[in-house]
Amino acid sequence: MSRIVVIGGTGYAGRHIVQEAVNRGHEVVSVSRSVPSDPVQGATDVRGNVRDLASLGDVFDGADAVVSALSPRGDMEDAVLGVLTELIATFRGTPTRLGVVGGAGGSLVAPGGPRLIDGDFPEEYKHEAQVGVDSLALLQETDGSLDWFLVHPAEVFGPWAEGERTGAYRDGGDVIVRDSEGNSFISGADFAVAVVDEIEQGNHHRERFTVGY
Ligand SMILES: NC(=O)c1ccc[n+]([C@@H]2O[C@H](COP(=O)([O-])OP(=O)(O)OC[C@H]3O[C@@H](n4cnc5c(N)ncnc54)[C@H](OP(=O)(O)O)[C@@H]3O)[C@@H](O)[C@H]2O)c1
Repeated sequence: MSRIVVIGGTGYAGRHIVQEAVNRGHEVVSVSRSVPSDPVQGATDVRGNVRDLASLGDVFDGADAVVSALSPRGDMEDAVLGVLTELIATFRGTPTRLGVVGGAGGSLVAPGGPRLIDGDFPEEYKHEAQVGVDSLALLQETDGSLDWFLVHPAEVFGPWAEGERTGAYRDGGDVIVRDSEGNSFISGADFAVAVVDEIEQGNHHRERFTVGY
């Protein structure tokens, strides 16, 4: 059993990760500023603002993995990279793995590139995708004392296309995963399966990977 802290554990990606980790018997802490309307039974909910990590007290103590599932929207639009910088400083030189949920836009479209965001990418998602790209750069700049992973969901991923848990997914490494018809999709639950598999199995140390069907 691992101790897993999910920052943004009440959001779309975060809640699925919390649920999957609880189902597998891990000790799970979900951090968010507001009280969840439907808390995941078996997880510990902690109210707090990660813009002030010190105010969170000992929530990260003894964590095997901390997963950041923040989104750069609303009042967090320009705050996510600052929080990530603080998280990197907190966990470098410790045994805690830092996982980050990014966007599909930073995934490569083919081995060697380019990235999805470099092509005909929807304007409304560009900022969010760029924050994912910049998050990866921040992680890649760290020295070897931080064990991190960044996971890109598929292109179609969100509450408007929640899907079901099948327990199956494909890990595309650096490259976006598409089915035989060119669609890139992952359900919320199967995305979480991939994240918790990564925490349990450690297949991607200090690298990113993509998830889809
Ligand atoms: N296809 C794609 O590429 C795609 C689609 C969707 C999402 N994503 C990515 O997935 C990641 C997560 O997105 P999401 O849609 O799951 O996010 P979301 O639903 O907006 O959830 C954000 C979570 O963070 C919490 N939070 C926000 N600010 C916080 C703060 N200062 N302190 C503590 N908690 C805070 C929120 O709760 P409170 O507001 O209560 O604090 C909530 O739990 C992002 O990187 C996003 O780009 C990618």
